[in-house]
Amino acid sequence: MVLAEQFRDVMSGVCTPVSVVTALDGPRPHGTTVSAFASLSMDPPMVLVSLDRGSDLLAVVRRGGRFGLNVLESGQAELAKQFARKGKTKFDGVSWQLDDDLPRLAGASGWVACRVEQFIEGGDHVVALGLVLAADSVPLAPLTYHARTFGTHARTDGAS
Ligand SMILES: Cc1cc2nc3c(=O)[nH]c(=O)nc-3n(C[C@H](O)[C@H](O)[C@H](O)COP(=O)(O)O)c2cc1C
Repeated sequence: MVLAEQFRDVMSGVCTPVSVVTALDGPRPHGTTVSAFASLSMDPPMVLVSLDRGSDLLAVVRRGGRFGLNVLESGQAELAKQFARKGKTKFDGVSWQLDDDLPRLAGASGWVACRVEQFIEGGDHVVALGLVLAADSVPLAPLTYHARTFGTHARTDGAS
């Protein structure tokens, strides 16, 4: 087995949250499903998102310098699939509103509005470091991605 394949297999075993990163392309909302998102700093509050160099959303974020992070809840797997497609129809039928001048999806469990502080090249991806401008959440079960399937978190400690 070649290294790239072995690496892919390791990463498919890593359970990740699923989010949709959004930005405004002129008046039009754009969004992309992302698992490579993490909290970076608390003071100041910052996050990081890793986007493929070929991502159309990356080009939009480079132009506007801002992005929104919609952390999906367990019932939003279809939404995650819709935003993992290419093209300009990803928002068709999707309920959203502008928040901090960024597209915010209805029903997501978490919302973070960011201004890009820095782009860092990382192989075939680009990491955007975002300074948090606003954050909001509701306590819903998370949508997770593991072994190329969608799921959610299950408690194993102290549960009776
Ligand atoms: C569960 C899941 C996680 C993904 N995570 C990422 C990611 O972290 N970074 C990324 O660039 N693409 C990721 N993708 C792929 C993008 O969503 C996909 O390539 C999308 O079509 C890019 O759209 P865009 O060109 O409009 O930005 C993921 C897809 C899925 C289904």
